[in-house]
Amino acid sequence: MIPTLNWTPEGVRFLDQTKLPLEETYVLAKTYEDVAEIIVTMVVRGAPAIGVSAAYGVALGALETKAGTTRDFAPEFEKICAHLAGTRPTAVNLFWAIDRMKRVFAALLAAGASIGEVKDKLLAEAHAMYEEDIAACKAMGAFGGALLPAEGGVLTHCNAGALATCGYGTALGVIRSAVEQGKKIHVYADETRPFLQGARLTAWELMADHIPTTVICDNMAASIMAKGKIQAVVVGADRIAANGDVANKIGTYNVAILAKEHGIPFYVAAPWSTIDLKTPDGSAIPIEERSAREVTHHAGTQLTPHGVGICNPAFDVTPNKYVTAIFTERGVLRAPYGESLKKMA
Ligand code: MRU
Repeated sequence: MIPTLNWTPEGVRFLDQTKLPLEETYVLAKTYEDVAEIIVTMVVRGAPAIGVSAAYGVALGALETKAGTTRDFAPEFEKICAHLAGTRPTAVNLFWAIDRMKRVFAALLAAGASIGEVKDKLLAEAHAMYEEDIAACKAMGAFGGALLPAEGGVLTHCNAGALATCGYGTALGVIRSAVEQGKKIHVYADETRPFLQGARLTAWELMADHIPTTVICDNMAASIMAKGKIQAVVVGADRIAANGDVANKIGTYNVAILAKEHGIPFYVAAPWSTIDLKTPDGSAIPIEERSAREVTHHAGTQLTPHGVGICNPAFDVTPNKYVTAIFTERGVLRAPYGESLKKMA
């Protein structure tokens, strides 16, 4: 199994995704500030992995405290949660995980629990989220894998794999499950400019699993579809609004439009922790704007003229009308998503 993140007696160990595929190195987070930095710098990335990392960050913060009582720890707990919540704005899993840790803490505070108990219970909750994430990936993988064709090309964008979760993956979990069901799938991985999650990470983890994979530049998708090489598109999500609009890696929206034009099903795989019923539609989803340097430079080499205008939104929103189905651990959702999401909640 790909060791995206795991708990050790010294802290949380992260596979450094900024160094893949050329180097397999690890970074140890000993404090909650370390975890926050690791999320901001994208050593760990992908909505479900960010959520569980933040939960471990909260647990580390509790383990580090010098407070002698739960009541004394309460203001520090709030500070830890706020610090972790300030790391990345789009993936709702981050806020979902922190809210879940807050609920555990509030119940312990109300029950008069000791600080020792608080430390144990917060760590146990983070462990539970880790395990649940893998189970959710496997469940949605089975639902989605059953809908992929017995043979054919599947296009994916960004990395929604084991590296973006605690293991198995969402979109790549669907592909893994289809392959385990005996289907002959060839994956086309969009390179995913500017951070190259597809070229670096999706290709790396699918090769490790011996799943046939071809990396294409983002601007090749239409032409490959027109040649009849793609039978389905499967992507992950960072946040799904109450009406089924899907925020995912920048460029996902382009792929969805292309899929519709070519009559190819466009599937989204995401755990329930990615669904944000409090956000009515995609226009209300905050989109992270990242550093211009990710666009102007590659591996330290400048690509663009000095001073040219740059924009770098990390995510876009695919309107629900392009989404053929959403796979979650609870089952398969179909349009109208406003109704199907409410029913499954
Ligand atoms: O900026 P990133 O690499 O964190 O973006 C990741 C994505 O957009 C993924 O597709 C999404 O988080 C789903 S991961 C299972």
